[in-house]
Amino acid sequence: MKSLQLSMLLLSLVLAALLSFSMGALPHEDFLQCLSLRSNDSSTISSVIYTRNNPSYSTVLEFTIRNLRFNSTNTPKPLVIVTPSRTSHFQATIYYSRKHGLQIRTRSGGHDYKGLSYIAKVPFVVVDLVNFRSVDVDVENRVAWVQAGAILGEVYYRIAKKSRTLSFAGGVFHSIGVSGFISGGGFGLLFRKYGTGGDNAIDAQFIDVNGRILDRKSMGEDLFWAIRGGGGGSFGIVLARKLKLVPVPATVTVFSVSRTLEQNATQLILRWQEIAHQLPDEMNPDVSMFSVNSTQDGRKTILASFSSLFLGTIDELLPIMQQRFPELGLSRQDCSEISWIESILYFNQLQNQPLEILLNRTFRNPVGGQYYKIKSDYVKVPISETALNGLFSRLSDEEASSVIIIFMAYGGIMDRIPEDATPFPHRAGNLYKIYYNVNWQEQDNVNSQKYIDWSRKVYNYMTPFVSKSSREAYANYRDLDIGSNNVGITSYTQAIVWGRKYFKNNFDRLVQVKTKIDPENFFKHEQSIPPLH
Ligand code: FDA
Repeated sequence: MKSLQLSMLLLSLVLAALLSFSMGALPHEDFLQCLSLRSNDSSTISSVIYTRNNPSYSTVLEFTIRNLRFNSTNTPKPLVIVTPSRTSHFQATIYYSRKHGLQIRTRSGGHDYKGLSYIAKVPFVVVDLVNFRSVDVDVENRVAWVQAGAILGEVYYRIAKKSRTLSFAGGVFHSIGVSGFISGGGFGLLFRKYGTGGDNAIDAQFIDVNGRILDRKSMGEDLFWAIRGGGGGSFGIVLARKLKLVPVPATVTVFSVSRTLEQNATQLILRWQEIAHQLPDEMNPDVSMFSVNSTQDGRKTILASFSSLFLGTIDELLPIMQQRFPELGLSRQDCSEISWIESILYFNQLQNQPLEILLNRTFRNPVGGQYYKIKSDYVKVPISETALNGLFSRLSDEEASSVIIIFMAYGGIMDRIPEDATPFPHRAGNLYKIYYNVNWQEQDNVNSQKYIDWSRKVYNYMTPFVSKSSREAYANYRDLDIGSNNVGITSYTQAIVWGRKYFKNNFDRLVQVKTKIDPENFFKHEQSIPPLH
């Protein structure tokens, strides 16, 4: 306890000096002198703080910037980056940021689609959890305590080291931060069988605006509910999560079957829409669509790739597909039997890589590009052939050369979990979700606006075919086009515009929780939950 207090005091001194410096009062040399004079723990403390003068500042900042759109010289940069290794470092950072009127942006895996974990339009501090990422797996009790900065790949890897038949209901992309993932709900290969990441988070360690460290019991069920889907960066900082581990077979099956328009892709997608949500919970059927040059005459066509994990063997899968979706013509050759963790590599197109690649948080996944804009939709009624053809014709636009559109089937347990079980409300009644990803290369970043405009054009085009009264969107696919808060005062009336789309009626309970835990609205950003004033 004493060392905790000492460490907090030391970090406070460092931050105090640092912030005075940031505001122009104290030269950098004085700050460093202050650090070495005052601290008998200076090596630890100085190694978690990066000012703009620190030669490692840019490396630390850029380390987890996933969307390179937000890595330009014009992108606003933090005054300070703190990479806490102890809870006292968080407490001191919150204390001094409040005192000096600085905002905090918390970053775990850095995948926020709008970069809100490391960008703000006001003076700010980034709290980066890169040093806070232990994963403690308890196979016997089927749980794992995971510090918030761990990435999903680390969680999968540590579980797989101990058991081939347990896993966590996490996302496909292994470099996503566990905490950011769960903060917005979080879906992946197992979500039709076991629900979202939030549904499988059973305890947490959390620090509030007053520096109090809370667990599920001490924070109460309302706040615990809110931090499992109510969006990141709104309530405080999640330090760790306790995850429920779920059973998976030692051998699973994966498949991917691609068809062009000339090979009947349109009819297959129309049929997929009707049946995918009714396929067994043990599957997660997706269909990805993109524009390619036809192998026959070189002209543009659409390639639709139908894929899924199946929690079982090929022999079990084939009769199901033969009965429910014979039109696809799935054959034994299209399928592979592998372990569950290998299926993560498979869906990341990393089949021949060692499992250790899952530990690499700087790995830039080839799927999905590096400069991108994302949007999402939910579909409740199958869309018509004419509507689908309109989408395909837009996919043939020049700006769409690197676009991926994915339909992700819902159904399964998602139909059976109530809408208000967690803030993530997209449950029964959804046939599938649409993920629109327009991405481009570095050399084309000067033309980013044309790609962004394209994504808005397609989104407008899709309006009549998707969910309507409050057009639903997935909170983890952050999209500021659907609405955002004022930089200054955050208002409920403004926030409800985007809040209803992400959270439906759960938005009001989120506002109540926020009002209680952070009434002064210290933790805020362009899409944070507002308190009631
Ligand atoms: P990041 O660190 O950027 O944080 C995201 C948000 O959470 C920010 O607002 C941040 O402040 C806040 N936050 C982070 N850590 C926090 C903490 N400890 N306490 C409080 N707030 C915190 N989603 C999905 O469900 N399934 C998927 O398969 C994928 N796939 C995918 C692929 C790729 C390439 C990208 C870029 C994104 C996805 N996503 C996804 C979306 C992803 O789940 C979403 O962006 C998460 O918020 C990312 O969490 P990170 O911790 O990585 O981001």
